Amino acid sequence: MPGDLTTVQNEESFYKNGENYWSEVPATVDGMLGGFGHISGTDIQGSKTLLRQIFSSNNSPGRTAALDCGAGIGRITKFLLCPFFDKVDMVEQNAAFLKQAQDYLGPHLYSEKIDKIYSTALQYFEPDFEKYDVIWIQWVLGHLTDDDFVIFLKKCRNGLKRNGVIVVKENITSSDQVDVDEKDSSVTRPLSLLKLLFIKANLECSRLQKQIHFPKGLYNVYMFVLKPKSADGNPIRNITKE
Ligand SMILES: C[S@@+](CC[C@H](N)C(=O)[O-])C[C@H]1O[C@@H](n2cnc3c(N)ncnc32)[C@H](O)[C@@H]1O
Repeated sequence: MPGDLTTVQNEESFYKNGENYWSEVPATVDGMLGGFGHISGTDIQGSKTLLRQIFSSNNSPGRTAALDCGAGIGRITKFLLCPFFDKVDMVEQNAAFLKQAQDYLGPHLYSEKIDKIYSTALQYFEPDFEKYDVIWIQWVLGHLTDDDFVIFLKKCRNGLKRNGVIVVKENITSSDQVDVDEKDSSVTRPLSLLKLLFIKANLECSRLQKQIHFPKGLYNVYMFVLKPKSADGNPIRNITKE
């Protein structure tokens, strides 16, 4: 249903309904991806390509610590972040998903790679100060109101180490409208609104990439590499498409 965030009139029920929706979802890859578990490999491949580009750029981030936000059962943690980073933290509001993550990741990854697991909603979470090289936020920001989106990104900015980056990977509407999904209590935002929210969070987008090879009929998915805005910087630069 087309609309805008003013349709999220009751913040409390917006969050409660989202939490209730996810409490009914199976703790599987298919559950995490709304029945599209088969696109997981393509998704991870696109993200790996982006991470490699990030690591080969000037002033690239380190590989010590990453944070997976809205981590679910750990699909991204397992296939994307663990191979690249020494340690990975996860934050997720659904405790059952985090419990399943232990089995899903397996004993080796779980004990060797996972550092901290935060069982909390993003709107209440604050990353440790200057801890992370990369903060990965995928397919979860639609569950935050615009205000909480900006507050959360500001907290993430403070959680970055020197040269650290935030990567946001999200669905984008093809119109200039916000789509509201009352079933899972989420919104899908247009590119223009996301760019505005990044600016409000004092972040600049150093790379914007479109995920390729997803099935037709799905929303377009974009990856944004975000850095703390430099004093004189143009907020959006180096826009590229895959
Ligand atoms: C579409 S799934 C994506 C999971 C994971 N990012 C992935 O790509 O495999 C959305 C996840 O966000 C979590 N979630 C929803 N609202 C949240 C919130 N306010 N704070 C933290 N996690 C939330 C859900 O429980 C679910 O695990």
